[in-house]
Amino acid sequence: MRITLSADDPIRSGADFLAVGVGSKNVARDPMVKKLDQAMGGSLLSHLKDEGFKGKLGQSLTMLGRGRLEARKLLLLGLGDEPKAATTQRLFAVRAARAAMGRPALSLVATGADPETLSLLAQGAVLGAYRYTRYLTGSRVPATPLKRVVIHVSKAPGRPERSAVSAATALGECVNLARDLINCPANDLTATELGRIASEQAKQAGVRCKVYDKKGIEKLGMPLLMAVNRGSSEEPRFIHMTHKPATRGAPRVVFVGKGLTFDSGGLCLKPADAMLDMKMDMGGAATTIGIVLAAARLKLPIEVHGVVASTDNMNGPDAYRPGDVFPSRKGKTVEIINTDAEGRLVLADALAYACELKPDYLIDHATLTGACLVALGKYRAGLFCNDEAMGRAYEKAAARSGEQFWQLPLDGDLRDQLKSRIADLKHTGTRYGGTITAALFLKEFVGDCRWAHLDIAGPAFLEKNHGIHPKGGTGFGILTAVEFLRSLLA
Ligand code: BES
Ligand code: MN
Ligand code: ZN
Repeated sequence: MRITLSADDPIRSGADFLAVGVGSKNVARDPMVKKLDQAMGGSLLSHLKDEGFKGKLGQSLTMLGRGRLEARKLLLLGLGDEPKAATTQRLFAVRAARAAMGRPALSLVATGADPETLSLLAQGAVLGAYRYTRYLTGSRVPATPLKRVVIHVSKAPGRPERSAVSAATALGECVNLARDLINCPANDLTATELGRIASEQAKQAGVRCKVYDKKGIEKLGMPLLMAVNRGSSEEPRFIHMTHKPATRGAPRVVFVGKGLTFDSGGLCLKPADAMLDMKMDMGGAATTIGIVLAAARLKLPIEVHGVVASTDNMNGPDAYRPGDVFPSRKGKTVEIINTDAEGRLVLADALAYACELKPDYLIDHATLTGACLVALGKYRAGLFCNDEAMGRAYEKAAARSGEQFWQLPLDGDLRDQLKSRIADLKHTGTRYGGTITAALFLKEFVGDCRWAHLDIAGPAFLEKNHGIHPKGGTGFGILTAVEFLRSLLA
């Protein structure tokens, strides 16, 4: 998408849609509303009144330009009583881009001209224009995706404004790539395909990428990833991406992602309705890949690694069983309890590998537990952290990104549930505190690394649009991770 800044009068904009945000305080006296009303010969204010448009958050109103505006349609979007808030600004652009879907050109009127506001608008436009269209045919192929967005600012933009817009565009595109990966069905997005796309994208972004195939993984020593893969006719993949800046002494951050391209539950088979959306079980991997690509495209002076363990969880003749015991990369032996708790197994080996890279910070994203959904609902991710300062820093980053997390305890009292009679560890506990025992299991594999575990089982995939996120794959976590990385530079 091409996003440009313009100091031209929005009334002259010839876009298909001209989107204007209006706060709920005194709509009729809003300078932009007054100006538009004048251009439209007084018809706007009467229309506003007729329709009861009061600028409330979520309200919208369209009106044809009819030659009085150069734009084909005027779109007023209510911004509520906090029109300047970052989340409101970004959501304004998201809503405008969604409304403009099917038309190639959109003009946005910016209320502020600072790089921060412009970056929120650009990011919103890119995120709002997202649609997953790969499998649509015939008349359902979108005729014209939104291609050009002009952001109207009150004064001529300079270098900082333009670079804020291009960085935000790049970041939005990385989120959209993650969404594409999540939305792609499991018959097409196999672990092999995920590895192929990761290396293709890495190449374009100047990121190093090593993809291990089944033999390579065996050699590398990932017994738990191999165990989960046993029931599958597809090969697993282990992906390691690296963004290495030229700066010396840059902090090193390693991200790890759960890459289950499909989770049937294995022998402990899921019921049909719980299985339906399980193509999304590689949401953590998609987010991890998106983060590394974003770090590269934003040229962050931070060494950022992305480590992904990918397979599907199936029930072929050689599938792993409850009661089986496997070694792990770290050396601890694990007794399998429920083959549907596969995510923590592949993560255990990936986390052990990640720790060997000696990161300053280790962060995993995983659609790990249904229990996290029970605890926090669909829209909020669980945050676990073994370092107080890091946990706080992550919460702060989330407050800036607008993504919602909630910190949960790595409650030592529940650790007993993971005691096994015949192995070092059982891999699941009871139903109560299931998201915590999953995190406690992972903790066994991170040693003394400074580590955060993000259970994104809820927000990675949605049944309906919510805020900036569309129905389906969301790419949740990328925006916060990038904010966290930026906070390391401050
Ligand atoms: N991928 C699921 C978790 C999940 C559930 C993600 C719903 C998104 C939506 C995970 O592999 C799983 O099946 N977890 C089990 C663990 C249990 C067997 C201990 C669960 O949460 O039921
Ligand atoms: Mn599972
Ligand atoms: Zn899973």
